[in-house]
Amino acid sequence: MIGTGYVGLVSGACFADLGNTVYCVDKDIDKINMLNLGDIPIYEPGLNEIVKKNYLSNRLQFTNDLSKAVKLSDIVFICVGTPTSKKDKSADLQFVFKVAREISRNINKFKIIVTKSTIPVGTGDKIEKIISRKKSKKMFEVVSNPEFLREGEAIRDFRYPDRIVVGSNNKKIIRKLESLYEPLIKKGSIFFSTNRRGAEMIKYASNAFLATKISYINEIANFCEKTGVNVEDVSLGMGLDKRIGSRFLRAGPAYGGSCFPKDTKAITVTADLFKTNLSIIKSVINSNLKRRMLLIKRIKKILSNKIKNKKITILGVTFKPNTDDMRESSSLLMLPYLNKKGAKVTYYDPSGEKNEFKKLKNVFFSNSPNEACLKADLIVIHTEWDEFKSIDFKKINKNKNLKIYDMRNLYSPKKMKNSGLNYYSIGR
Ligand SMILES: NC(=O)c1ccc[n+]([C@@H]2O[C@H](COP(=O)([O-])OP(=O)(O)OC[C@H]3O[C@@H](n4cnc5c(N)ncnc54)[C@H](O)[C@@H]3O)[C@@H](O)[C@H]2O)c1
Repeated sequence: MIGTGYVGLVSGACFADLGNTVYCVDKDIDKINMLNLGDIPIYEPGLNEIVKKNYLSNRLQFTNDLSKAVKLSDIVFICVGTPTSKKDKSADLQFVFKVAREISRNINKFKIIVTKSTIPVGTGDKIEKIISRKKSKKMFEVVSNPEFLREGEAIRDFRYPDRIVVGSNNKKIIRKLESLYEPLIKKGSIFFSTNRRGAEMIKYASNAFLATKISYINEIANFCEKTGVNVEDVSLGMGLDKRIGSRFLRAGPAYGGSCFPKDTKAITVTADLFKTNLSIIKSVINSNLKRRMLLIKRIKKILSNKIKNKKITILGVTFKPNTDDMRESSSLLMLPYLNKKGAKVTYYDPSGEKNEFKKLKNVFFSNSPNEACLKADLIVIHTEWDEFKSIDFKKINKNKNLKIYDMRNLYSPKKMKNSGLNYYSIGR
């Protein structure tokens, strides 16, 4: 596995757990040292145990030595990041191409080179071109095997994926990948193969579709707020239709994370290059950007436009629960904004303090949700961590004017009203 981040580390540990010998490579020396000392650099439930077990049995090794790892391997997975380019909204492929060049210098026998990184359609062709500058095409095959795991549920998603997608024009190679995944296929996962560009496209089209579903219900929630309709009922009523499905149909803050924002942007840029206007996805990107500000405006309204000196507590700052990932979280705009407007912000997140907020003058991290909520004027539930689902707000905060803005609809409006709390939620 080249790149030992969320995808490389989880997949590497899980492949080792299936009985393979796995070398996890990273250029980040601190990360590799940490892993060799038994520390896990990311927060992912269940990962620690799998890493430890397979490390001790020597099936899982961590190294900075890409050359050695590639030479020893039959299959090389590229799992490096493909962030949004600083120049435009495309996927920055510099890390992928650099790894491709490094692999090409170390091919000593036939290798299957698999892209797990999310890469725009046609990138596999470019990787093949790069490697064939150094090695004959008989020595390698480039295959696409996009990753669909969700942070926070990554181990389960690896072990029980809905589907495993592999893209290659070479049937023999597809069979090799199928046999690698056989233990998962035997447990009921569907193995779907197509050509390489097809697999690359499936990944982006899937992420853009899920982002669309989220933005769609978020806009419907705005409409519900104006019409006295409960968006939760709308989600349930819609989701019962099997053609629609209930997942990813829960209203909340703007979508964030390391995938949806960058992948929606990248697919529209790639499509533009192919002279195709993905207008729906472009409008989803726009809707999501607007939503980040829309919910901040709602906070202002709840506080009657008086933010200065207000004590605001934010529960959860990651883009979703069970991860420490802050990439593109809507809290990254929210906390600095409230801070700039003179609020005193306290936040609590089960995954710990965030470097992103350390420099802000009036933003403080608290070690417990109770302590964080103690003196608040307004409590904002931003991320739906389980531990936020049964807080007795009245018990921990005696302020009669306490306001609660539940951006995840974790509580019942009726119950909150009955207990005398000023409660606001999304689309209800
Ligand atoms: N995070 C997710 O939930 C998720 C899910 C599905 C797909 N993906 C895709 O998988 C890819 C990786 O995502 P991630 O979240 O794991 O990224 P990440 O940033 O957590 O990890 C990438 C790792 O690659 C390493 N790296 C970069 N260049 C390298 C090189 N030349 N040699 C060795 N190591 C190198 C980095 O140091 C880093 O540790 C992306 O394309 C992403 O879109 C991510």
